[in-house]
Amino acid sequence: MIVAANFKTHQTRKGTFHYLAVLEDFLLHEEIHQQAIVFPPATALEHHDGHVLVGTQNAYPAQNGAFTGEIGLEQLEEFDIHTILIGHSERRHLLGETQESIASKFAFFKEQHFNIVYCIGEPLDVREAGEDALMAYLQTQLEGIDLNYERLTVAYEPVWAIGTGVTPSLEAIERTHVALKGLINTPLLYGGSVKRDNAEEIMALNAVDGILVGSGALDVDDFCAMLKTAQHLEEGE
Ligand code: PGA
Repeated sequence: MIVAANFKTHQTRKGTFHYLAVLEDFLLHEEIHQQAIVFPPATALEHHDGHVLVGTQNAYPAQNGAFTGEIGLEQLEEFDIHTILIGHSERRHLLGETQESIASKFAFFKEQHFNIVYCIGEPLDVREAGEDALMAYLQTQLEGIDLNYERLTVAYEPVWAIGTGVTPSLEAIERTHVALKGLINTPLLYGGSVKRDNAEEIMALNAVDGILVGSGALDVDDFCAMLKTAQHLEEGE
C-alpha cells in the first residue's frame, strides 16, 4: 500500500527533518515495507536518503525562468526530488489552476520521469447530483492526463471531505473507487479526512490502494500508526 502525507502549509524545515528521521527509524525497526510518501512545504525540501519518498506539493513546469514565487525543475533537482503532487483541490479551487494548466504540468513532469500523485475529486453539489454526475465530473479532471504513465498514482479526494472531518460512507468510497478502476489502471489512493482512527476501514476497502492524509498525518506517531495498519492489512492480519 501507499501511505502519503501532505503537510500543506504546515511544518518547518527543522520539524520536517525530525519527522522524517522518526519515520525512517520506525519503518526500519518495525520492518514496514509499505511505500511512505511525504510532501513537506517547499522550504523543507532536501535530499533524503531512505525508504520514504519525499515529494514536492507543487512546482512550475519549467527548468527555471521568470515565474515569481514558483520553483522549477532546477530547484527540485538540487535536492534529488523526483516526486510531485499535481491537481490537488486546494490548487484547483483556491489557487485557480485550470485543467489545462494542470495537464501541461503533468506532461512536463512526466517527461522528466517524476513519480506523480495526481488528485481528483468533486465538490459537494456534484456529489449531490448523483453517481452519473460524479463520474462525469471526475472524468473532466482526467482530461489531458496520460493514464498509462507508469509512474502515476491517482488520489481520489472529494473536496467536501478535505479538512472537514466528514468522509463519504465506506460504501460510497468503494463504489467510486471501483468505478474509477474501470477508467484507470494505476494505484488509487483515497484522501479526505483520513485519520488514524478510520484509516484501517478505508484501506481495507476494495480498489483502495492506500491513503493521502493531510491534517491526520501532521503528528508523526499517527502517520506511523497508519503505516503499521497498512502493513497488517497487507499481511492479512
Ligand atoms: P485532510 O487533507 O486529510 O486534512 O482532509 C487531505 C488532502 O488534502 O490531501
